[in-house]
Amino acid sequence: MTRTEPAAAMLRPTGISEGIRVRGVTVTTRNHATVLVENLEIDLRSGEIHALVGESGSGKSLSALAILGLLPPALEMTGQITPALRPGRDVALVMQDPVAALDPRWRVGRFLTGQFARLGDLPLSAARTAARAMLGRLGLTDIDRVMAAYPHQLSGGMAQRVMIGAALAGSPAFLLADEPTTALDVTTQAQILSLLQGLCRDQGLGMLLITHDLGVVAETAARMTVLYGGQVMERGPANAVLPRPVHPYTRALLRAMPDLASAAPPAPIAGQPGRPSGRIGCAFAPRCAQAGPLCTAARPQLRPRGDGAGDFACHHPEGDAA
Ligand SMILES: Nc1ncnc2c1ncn2[C@@H]1O[C@H](COP(=O)(O)OP(=O)(O)O)[C@@H](O)[C@H]1O
Ligand code: SF4
Ligand SMILES: [Mg+2]
Repeated sequence: MTRTEPAAAMLRPTGISEGIRVRGVTVTTRNHATVLVENLEIDLRSGEIHALVGESGSGKSLSALAILGLLPPALEMTGQITPALRPGRDVALVMQDPVAALDPRWRVGRFLTGQFARLGDLPLSAARTAARAMLGRLGLTDIDRVMAAYPHQLSGGMAQRVMIGAALAGSPAFLLADEPTTALDVTTQAQILSLLQGLCRDQGLGMLLITHDLGVVAETAARMTVLYGGQVMERGPANAVLPRPVHPYTRALLRAMPDLASAAPPAPIAGQPGRPSGRIGCAFAPRCAQAGPLCTAARPQLRPRGDGAGDFACHHPEGDAA
């Protein structure tokens, strides 16, 4: 891709080709009063999309920031992420609203050139050439116009391509894409998802794809982790979990999806997503139709699904694979 790639690859921490291992990651407020993400365990593998799924407030973005080592100062993290990662160079973030993420005062050319100069250790002229080449690779055609544009002059899809280009400036091995298509129209969503899939397939990028859209998971992800109230509810290969979910929350998420092939309307999950606190039992208990006395008394631990394809944390699982 750019002249920086061999150098950046050489500088990568040993073992990153084996993937990123997230173990026991817990995010709390500094006073430890609120647990926002609890005991997160995820393996990110090269060339593979791992979807992190859950409603708003589930802890998806905080999980990504914890992996990046970029949590806000008010929060604290324990647990292990191996190998040690350099944000921007080993792993980079693509955010939800690209236009808002770009500085409105800077033309695209200045922003992207700066990213390539900083993360690719390039002189400005080479950084500018690399930025232009990247925009071409990401499917933008009128590169002079894009480089000269201010963020508000870009369509959502163009802006997200610019942000993906900026994330790739340091030749990272992994991307954390936090709802990268939520702010886009349906057609552009499909184009950006296909672009991200192509990066994984053709260049071996590994990706954590944060989304609340299970349709996106079905189309793109090899593996998935379902998060609720900062806890893992269910996880495993997407082609096992989606057709045969066993956790009541995964099943409720699927029922809440519009199904074009069915006359039945989607069934929204009753109640509001719970704000994490010092709970004892299952985070989903206040909204769960299956909940019994054990659910509020004891935290369900992750255990293997009956079909061996993943794990779930529930006292009263449903479905054939339970
Ligand atoms: N800086 C913070 N201080 C305290 N709570 C926070 C902070 N950032 C996020 N939260 C809370 O943590 C929970 C998870 O947030 P987030 O990871 O952004 O959810 P998601 O991305 O799944 O919508 C939410 O309840 C949110 O209000
Ligand atoms: S543990 Fe209980 S409350 Fe939680 S999802 Fe399972 S049945 Fe529902
Ligand atoms: Mg979020």
